[in-house]
Formats: sequence, structure tokens, C-alpha cells
Amino acid sequence: MILTVAHTKGGVGKSTLAWHLAHALIQDERKVTIVDLDFQQTLFFINSLNENNIIEVKQPQTGDELIELFEKYEDDEYIIVDVGGFDNDINRIAISWADSIVVPISNSATEVLGFKTFEAILEEIDNPFVYVVLNNIHPLTKNFDLITEAIGDNPNIKLQNSIIRNRKVYKETLGFGKSIFDTKDTEAQNEIKRLKDELISNK
Ligand SMILES: Nc1ncnc2c1ncn2[C@@H]1O[C@H](COP(=O)(O)OP(=O)(O)O)[C@@H](O)[C@H]1O
Ligand SMILES: [Mg+2]
Repeated sequence: MILTVAHTKGGVGKSTLAWHLAHALIQDERKVTIVDLDFQQTLFFINSLNENNIIEVKQPQTGDELIELFEKYEDDEYIIVDVGGFDNDINRIAISWADSIVVPISNSATEVLGFKTFEAILEEIDNPFVYVVLNNIHPLTKNFDLITEAIGDNPNIKLQNSIIRNRKVYKETLGFGKSIFDTKDTEAQNEIKRLKDELISNK
């Protein structure tokens, strides 16, 4: 299964979610490969901080290399793609091949505007499996009308029920090449596991 975490806006949590989701799948003893398409090589560098080498991070340089990688993967394998915050050919390939396009967004007016820009790109690519995930949400926030209105009645875009809250542990673990599953924070772990279950049951 190919899960592509994508958004043209930077700072929405693509790399953070891709990383912790990959580790949630590893907890299930799945074979997981991360594909890092961001020229900042965020997950490549974070992964190199972890001496246990539990995940392989690949960095295809061309669209053909990416397609070759997609063609080779087995049915029971998971490929998590962290797309850079821009629109180019290789990122569009990652989006068009995805079984799930995972789009993190926060709950604010500027985020909604950013989402509209990305929605137009998604429409051109025409892959109907788009799943919006509320990320980095304040612990007390319960009203998500801004987001539900922005998605409107677009039949290709589904808002996931799982909500990823703002938690320091998501950020802090990455700095050491670790994930939330290396901590005792079961609330964060359950939050990510719930999202993982929801995303892999979509298809
Ligand atoms: N749920 C969250 N809780 C706390 N911090 C978060 C969360 N999601 C993202 N962040 C922080 O927000 C910043 C941007 O996240 P990042 O994953 O790098 O975004 P992107 O890959 O979309 O540019 C990082 O500093 C990250 O640690
Ligand atoms: Mg990133």
C-alpha cells in the first residue's frame, strides 16, 4: 500500500506524520519503506540519527526511479512517501500512484486557504483517494467547521475521524531519530495508531 503524505504548504506536519505512521506500521511488524522526496531530506537525516536502522529511507532522484520503486513493492508492504512542500513532476507521480493521499491540515483560516490551492492541484491529478487529517490541533479545540466547510461536498476528499493533537512528544522524538513508540506516551501512541488503522482501512 502506498500512502503519500502531501500538501504544497510547508509546516503542516507532513514529515512528522509520515515518520510516526511509518513506526506505527512497524509496530504491526509490517515491512515499511519511507520515500523522502523533500529536497531538505528531513526524514533521511532524522533516520540517520537512529543507530538501530529499523526503517529504510529511500531518495529516488527522478520520476522513473520512483515508479520503479512503486512497481517493485509487494502487496503486504507499505511505502510512506513524504512529499516536499512544492508542486513538481515527481511529487505528482507520488500523488497519482498513492492508494491514500494523506493531507495534514490545522484548524485555521490560513490553513484553509492553503488547502484550496492544493485542492486545485489534486483535481488535476485526479486520484480520488484523498484523506484530510487534522494535525497539530490544540487540546481543547472541538469545532472544525472551517475545515468541513472548506472540504464541502467534494466527493474525493474525506475528513478522517482521527485527530492528531499538538503534542511536544511528536517533535521531540524526531530530533533524536526516535518515534513516539520509543516513549511511554500511550496517548500519543494511541492517537497515531488510530489514524494508521483508519488510513489502512480506507481501501
Ligand atoms: N501534532 C503536532 N504536535 C506538535 N508539533 C507538531 C505536530 N505536527 C507538526 N509539528 C511541528 O510543526 C513543525 C512542522 O512540521 P513538519 O512535519 O516538519 O511539516 P512539513 O513536513 O509539512 O513541512 C515541526 O516543528 C513539527 O515538529
Ligand atoms: Mg517536511
